[in-house]
Amino acid sequence: MRVLVTGGAGYIGSHTVLELLAAGHDVQILDNYHNASPEVLRRLRELSNGHLTEVEADIRDSQTMREVAESFRPEAVIHFAGLKAVGEGQSDPISYYDVNVSGTLKLLRAVQDVGCRHVVFSSSATVYGEPKYLPYDESHPCDPINVYGRSKWMAEQALTDWQATRPDVSVVLLRYFNPVGAHASGRIGEDPSDIPNNLMPFVAQVAVGRRDKLAVFGDDYDTPDGTGVRDYIHVVDLARAHVAALDHGVPGTEVFNVGTGQGVSVLDMVQAFERTSGRPVPYEVVARREGDLASYYADSSKAQSALKWAAAHGVDDMCGSTWTWQSGNPNGYAKD
Ligand code: NAD
Ligand code: UFG
Repeated sequence: MRVLVTGGAGYIGSHTVLELLAAGHDVQILDNYHNASPEVLRRLRELSNGHLTEVEADIRDSQTMREVAESFRPEAVIHFAGLKAVGEGQSDPISYYDVNVSGTLKLLRAVQDVGCRHVVFSSSATVYGEPKYLPYDESHPCDPINVYGRSKWMAEQALTDWQATRPDVSVVLLRYFNPVGAHASGRIGEDPSDIPNNLMPFVAQVAVGRRDKLAVFGDDYDTPDGTGVRDYIHVVDLARAHVAALDHGVPGTEVFNVGTGQGVSVLDMVQAFERTSGRPVPYEVVARREGDLASYYADSSKAQSALKWAAAHGVDDMCGSTWTWQSGNPNGYAKD
């Protein structure tokens, strides 16, 4: 299929592009490089000789989006482009609703008249909010507690309402848990442009010597070791879930959790990283981070049965591949 991948130069998008090319799809990346480097394109071409084109554009630019849709005529869209920093969303809600909600509407308007029959959307476990029970399944009520989560939830609603007017179209809403890790080649990976907000890139930058120590946000949660528990998912497994979602292709709107079902604490993750990298990861326990939940993890059985997808990589692969990427590219995509 011809697949338009918005945000395809980003962390999850770039890994998904490789899996799509390996599965024989014809891929066009659309990205404005707000949070990505054009160097990614060079590396994707080095890793695959599949059919890959690229266009630099902003999903909010309706005119350009129409031109892209008319020239590439995508049969499918995988929509990663978006803003994702929880704290930034709280201080700049207009940008978050503009890119994540309005941008999604502009994308749909552009592709809906060119025969696009498949849309896969990057949603997040954050749409569930405070757990009423665990693991979260897809029927868990959605009550996001921050702007970012609400923007993802609104985009989910818009996609669902739009699909109801297009009975021949398949919309798959993938709710990711905590994506980590990198491609086994070590050539692509997560490259935060600023101080990392997320655990894994921070740990990796401590291990490689770019930062002194990790701040562990609280050790007094009601969890086995007191630190926050999450469901980490290897980015290559997550990428494969997108290919499975395209293969699924059943008309209608479906939502799937994408996680492993395993709850892993911050200290479990630090220990696994030290073990697989052979590097120390000094840390200091500090106050809880505002807005953090103690613990959550996925019931991904729906994706397993309907998409025939299951996570293949465990925590050691997640940490080991992150270290291969970080140690080979201490400054990310900035000059080797
Ligand atoms: P990322 O920032 O690496 O990728 C997003 C890409 O979108 C970047 O390449 C960026 O340049 C591009 N982009 C941003 N605004 C754009 C615009 N207006 N027009 C065109 N391109 C634009 O982030 P990621 O971690 O790869 O996340 C991808 C998607 O998955 C996002 O929608 C994010 O909300 C969602 N998600 C991420 C996580 C996570 O923990 N990484 C968890 C759940 C959901
Ligand atoms: N943590 C630390 N120190 C750090 C960073 C994180 O102790 O420097 C802890 C957090 O308190 C939490 C755990 O590590 O207990 C994971 O935190 P992350 O920031 O890596 O991930 P979150 O679970 O907070 O959120 C992530 C993404 C969201 C997404 C959500 C989906 O940042 O965008 O997963 O579940 F919505």
